[in-house]
Amino acid sequence: MRLSLTSFSLFLPFLCGAASLPAMHKEENVVVGKYIVEMHTSSGASTKRDGSVHKRLSNFLEERGVDHSLHKEYTSEVFTGASISVSSADNIKHLEGLEDVKAIHKVRRYARPLVTRGPSASGKSEGAFGSSVVHAMTGVDKLHEEGITGKGVTIAILDTGVDYSHPALGGGIGKGYKVVGGYDFVGDAYTGDGISNPVPDSDPIDQCSLSGHGTHVAGIIGADPKENPYNISGVAYDASILAYRVFGCDGGVEDDVLVEAMTRAYEDGADIINMSLGSGGGWSEAPTSVVAANIVAKGRIVAVAAGNEGDSDGTWYVDDPSTGTGAVSVASIQSAGYDLPHVSVVGAKYPSIPYFSWDTIPVKGTLDVYAVSIEPNGTTDACDPLPTDTPDLSNYIVILRAANCSFTTQLQNIQEFGAQYAFLGSGSAEPSIQSFKDYNGTYIRGDDAEFLVQEFAAGTDIKLALPGTVSGYKALDGGVVSSFSSVGPSYELAFKPVVAAPGGNILSTLPKGEYGILSGTSMATPYFAGSSALYLSKSGKDVKSVAKDIAFVFERTANPVEVTTGADGLVPTTVVAGAGLINVYNALYATTAISPSELLMNDTTHLKDKFTITITNNGAKDQTYKLSHTPAGTAHTVDSKFKQPLRAPLNHTTDYATVDFSTKSVKVAAGKSAKFTVTITPPEIDPVTLPVYSGFIEVTGEDNVTLHSTYMGLAASLYDDAMTLDMTDILVKADMLNYTLPTIINASSAPQLRMETYTFDVERDDYPSIEYRLAFGSPHVDIMLAGPDSNDKSVDVLGLLASWDYVNRNDGLTDGNNTMMADWMTPAYANGTTVVDGIYKVLLRVLKMNGDRTKDGDYDVWLSPTFGVQANSKSSKSTKAPSTFKWDWNWEGFF
Ligand SMILES: *[C@@H]1O[C@H](CO)[C@@H](O)[C@H](O)[C@H]1NC(C)=O
Ligand SMILES: *[C@@H]1O[C@H](CO)[C@@H](O)[C@H](O)[C@H]1NC(C)=O
Ligand SMILES: *[C@@H]1O[C@H](CO)[C@@H](O)[C@H](O)[C@H]1NC(C)=O
Ligand SMILES: *[C@@H]1O[C@H](CO)[C@@H](O)[C@H](O)[C@H]1NC(C)=O
Ligand SMILES: *[C@@H]1O[C@H](CO)[C@@H](O)[C@H](O)[C@H]1NC(C)=O
Ligand SMILES: *[C@@H]1O[C@H](CO)[C@@H](O)[C@H](O)[C@H]1NC(C)=O
Ligand SMILES: *[C@@H]1O[C@H](CO)[C@@H](O)[C@H](O)[C@H]1NC(C)=O
Ligand SMILES: *[C@@H]1O[C@H](CO)[C@@H](O)[C@H](O)[C@H]1NC(C)=O
Ligand SMILES: *[C@@H]1O[C@H](CO)[C@@H](O)[C@H](O)[C@H]1NC(C)=O
Repeated sequence: MRLSLTSFSLFLPFLCGAASLPAMHKEENVVVGKYIVEMHTSSGASTKRDGSVHKRLSNFLEERGVDHSLHKEYTSEVFTGASISVSSADNIKHLEGLEDVKAIHKVRRYARPLVTRGPSASGKSEGAFGSSVVHAMTGVDKLHEEGITGKGVTIAILDTGVDYSHPALGGGIGKGYKVVGGYDFVGDAYTGDGISNPVPDSDPIDQCSLSGHGTHVAGIIGADPKENPYNISGVAYDASILAYRVFGCDGGVEDDVLVEAMTRAYEDGADIINMSLGSGGGWSEAPTSVVAANIVAKGRIVAVAAGNEGDSDGTWYVDDPSTGTGAVSVASIQSAGYDLPHVSVVGAKYPSIPYFSWDTIPVKGTLDVYAVSIEPNGTTDACDPLPTDTPDLSNYIVILRAANCSFTTQLQNIQEFGAQYAFLGSGSAEPSIQSFKDYNGTYIRGDDAEFLVQEFAAGTDIKLALPGTVSGYKALDGGVVSSFSSVGPSYELAFKPVVAAPGGNILSTLPKGEYGILSGTSMATPYFAGSSALYLSKSGKDVKSVAKDIAFVFERTANPVEVTTGADGLVPTTVVAGAGLINVYNALYATTAISPSELLMNDTTHLKDKFTITITNNGAKDQTYKLSHTPAGTAHTVDSKFKQPLRAPLNHTTDYATVDFSTKSVKVAAGKSAKFTVTITPPEIDPVTLPVYSGFIEVTGEDNVTLHSTYMGLAASLYDDAMTLDMTDILVKADMLNYTLPTIINASSAPQLRMETYTFDVERDDYPSIEYRLAFGSPHVDIMLAGPDSNDKSVDVLGLLASWDYVNRNDGLTDGNNTMMADWMTPAYANGTTVVDGIYKVLLRVLKMNGDRTKDGDYDVWLSPTFGVQANSKSSKSTKAPSTFKWDWNWEGFF
């Protein structure tokens, strides 16, 4: 048995028994019948007071006799509108004509950030762990030494709440405390599944048994270094926190709640909004992404997790709302390491041995070592009861090597002889960390255990000096991009993720006075939020002017991320690491600025390859800057055979872009600016794998500080080369389906192979479902009814059955149901007009990337086999609403 404290924050699959509507719908995480209506803010202030747009909205619906219920009204300058439910999806169409209406978004569910925690600790420590190793990665250590701690800045945390009663988080809420306020938008019982309604209250405490995520996030920002036994210091531990609870004790959240919480955080004056949550999307048009963009445009900072789906769902899969324009989408880097206690070996020349416990062994002095067996590389140490002549082990430190039996069996057998202290050699290259006091034992590295056993066997008089001294240990994967970190870019080829911050193996606070290690972009996001607070607190907190530029400041001063183990020596592609690992010290103190910091080259059809870069010398001396180019590895994002997105880790190739500079160096007088130009030539490579090339245009001053502008482009045309509608037999090849897609699924849940007639008897599932798969996002999908004589050359379109905008792709073959299923449950067109009985086909149209909606040729299409509709002539037509809506979409992971 391996006990592991280190845990990834896993994402709860969302189960749903949604209420249904008699219409055709199928979309990822969409709540049937519920909409966010985004309205124009006509005349600012008056709108806010008399809510007149909302009145017009209700009047409009009432005049047309539309049965609806109003859930939320949004009256903020960053979002005006409402969330409503309508009894029939067709009714929402009426609203499209209302002039106040800017956009209508379907309400989507976001799954909760699930915290998987190993044994957590509440006891005393002598400084093991701490955050000093992590802060040394980013320069936060130096800022803390200067007393820059985020004072005067307010950060809103939208999460599972915060356990503000934790001593390290101030022990209370309200004026004078660290957590200055907040709100619970949902209540304990809320699960976001449409069954439980939000029951808000004023207390955002996070103490449910499954929670803790928000408390961990809060500790990363704000843990008080003087009030915890682990020497954890929050990145901005003097900043104020506003805690907004958007998850109940279990389950997810609907995005109309998120919109409400985001606008509230804005109205309450948060300088920075932290959202360690999200939902696979990839488009900037999601309502939460729109609100994030509006908040950024007003001069606030919005930090959002990129997502934890890199190794499961692969490329082109950053989460909403991190896709919002201007929102900082944060990728995760593994912590460089941690502080661990190291014991010195007395009586032999050997380096001090780290032990992987986050508390120290409660002994002051030396202990003799004892080995239960001495054959080299033994694998049965203490798997069986020890011989009866074994001495009393209470004053030894017993060395056990990785064995064929469980760790606990080994410990039980030595405890029979009074053992109190054990070192267990780990079978893995990097032992997992736990608390010594939970087992009276702790892992050490396997080779250290073997050394101690062999010294014991040789009869050397060796002792270990306990408890040892705490010092830095470099993790094997320290500094590299976390394998789970979601991979971009966005479908529109925007720069997502934007930057990376430490998020793997982070020790922070947990509810009820505890502490634990979690990993996720959920942890990297508050690291970035806290870093922004340090920046704001020092730069005079002119938030409005600073916030819009914050991403650029951190991008240009970021450091290239360490090369992943076993790779090709190239800096990781920007689609996993953005502009690199943030360096907060340089962000604050660099006396040079360059802009722009993002050079977005788009695809080959929309190529932008010439850029003018401005260097501004804010220092006191004239400087000559050297210009250079560091390419990142080119990432092949889809496989060449099936054109399916690839999962992280991505293979890099050295086919990178070449860069021509207008000059080799640029002299800039103190206080002045100068420009140079670059022409970036994309690599000429086969576009079939949708290769993304990227890299850095570097400017190095005489002080040896290097800043960079990051470029990124696609060496392919999205229109020509991205396969949206999947017509391959990949799912058959992967043994997930025994039929090819697209297809019609009949009442027996089987593909329709020959002519069938549907009665639309929903209780018997007797309606056609169109099953298809998107291998890439599409800006628009239509399902239309067509005449029976339609063929590939000429389609007789009769009318629209359903349509969707900005659709995310299906996931990357992680399980057997990554398909879209559009259930046509009422024999009616989208506008509500009945479809008369007869023989038909359906036409599925998927708009290609960058296609023109009005051009038939810009769609990938599929025409179904013929089928019959025989629903309306039935005399005993059921008037009951169908009992269930079929939701067999694969619910994506979130955090
Ligand atoms: C605690 O952390 C600070 C920096 O955050 C570091 O300077 C100090 O050495 C640490 N203390 C121990 C006991 O590790
Ligand atoms: C024990 O295992 C290590 C690692 O596999 C190996 O290098 C070493 O030679 C082995 N020692 C003996 C005595 O077999
Ligand atoms: C550790 O050892 C002490 C002393 O023998 C014993 O009282 C305690 O129960 C042990 N703890 C565990 C977790 O085994
Ligand atoms: C790339 O070009 C397309 C088509 O003009 C546009 O929609 C998209 O926003 C562009 N992306 C970027 C990052 O400029
Ligand atoms: C990535 O590279 C490894 C090692 O060269 C190779 O085994 C693997 O098939 C490659 N993966 C893809 C998707 O090309
Ligand atoms: C910058 O680096 C160069 C070469 O590594 C070195 O000679 C020079 O002293 C450095 N300058 C400063 C200010 O650190
Ligand atoms: C396809 O699979 C289903 C169940 O997964 C099975 O019932 C059916 O017989 C299979 N069809 C064929 C043609 O193998
Ligand atoms: C609804 O759509 C169908 C098919 O396009 C069309 O024939 C019908 O006239 C429309 N009904 C209304 C009320 O617009
Ligand atoms: C979808 O996949 C998940 C995970 O593999 C599985 O639990 C679920 O039952 C599947 N749903 C359907 C409808 O096949």
